[in-house]
Amino acid sequence: MKKIAVMGFGVVGSGVVELCDKNKESICGRAGDEIVVKYILDLRDFPDSPYADRVIHDFDTILKDPEVEIVAEVMGGLEPAFSYSKALLCAGKSVVTSNKELVAQKGAELLALAHEHGVNYLFEASVGGGIPIIRPLHMCLAANQIDEIAGILNGTTNFILTKMIRESMSFSDALALAQKLGYAEKDPTADVEGQDACRKICILASLAYGKHVYPQEVHTEGITKVTLEDVQYAEDWGGVIKLIGRAKRLESGKLMVMVSPALISHESQLSTVDDVFNGILVRADATGDVVFYGKGAGKLPTASAVMGDIIDCAKAQGTIESLRWTDSQADTVGNYEDYP
Ligand code: HSE
Repeated sequence: MKKIAVMGFGVVGSGVVELCDKNKESICGRAGDEIVVKYILDLRDFPDSPYADRVIHDFDTILKDPEVEIVAEVMGGLEPAFSYSKALLCAGKSVVTSNKELVAQKGAELLALAHEHGVNYLFEASVGGGIPIIRPLHMCLAANQIDEIAGILNGTTNFILTKMIRESMSFSDALALAQKLGYAEKDPTADVEGQDACRKICILASLAYGKHVYPQEVHTEGITKVTLEDVQYAEDWGGVIKLIGRAKRLESGKLMVMVSPALISHESQLSTVDDVFNGILVRADATGDVVFYGKGAGKLPTASAVMGDIIDCAKAQGTIESLRWTDSQADTVGNYEDYP
């Protein structure tokens, strides 16, 4: 039996615990062992939850328990998630996460620590919710040069834009609905200002190009200035407005990475990606275009990706070697005006 801990009992954390219970037999078959949640770390108590007896408030209980070999960090934010993840990896425990903010800022350092200690730091859930994209990029497409990645990477803003386009709903009503449905970040500023999409394109670019792309180097513009008039203008032009994260290798050898609203023609597959769905186009030299599509946010889609990583940790003997990039900063073009 593999005992795990879940740090954070919010939307994603509760999804992980529920999914682990709901599909326990098939998960056991795939992991080769039963996976049981021993601890749930949260500041709050959950007296009405069927998992109330597993809720703890002290991180050291997890750190010091030799039975716990795998920990899901689904608390979000940089701290204390960064300190906790470092301590766990140094203690020889694998960590899996949906925390894109942390991976985008500290991914190289945490991956290096995991490698040093012979454990895993996995983050399939950090980009694209339930869509498999991290593994395809560093495993299935490993023989390719990646020319470009372009994607709708934020479910909340895609949901808002879809409501504005299809139902002429106001921005604020659509945002309130996205929050109610559990898509948005705790502070939705990160969604609507484009920072969440920026973190995700940084993770994909770091993985595809092998050097760390930091969010602060990336030109980032969200959707707060998009009006219903803009939406109508796009329709008249023959397309839709989408928030696009893009990373492209330039002939100069530099990387162009940016996030901004863009006019997408109805002929593009990305124009059909609606609601909370994400769509990610990877242009690779051997395969040509490959498109990934699915639910990019929400409790169970994201929990699915976290559980996939937990199952891999339970099966894996040591570190997955191909999941790595260096801490040296990528040479990026910081503004789309520099893009030829
Ligand atoms: N707030 C994020 C989104 C959650 O809307 O895409 C999934 O990362």
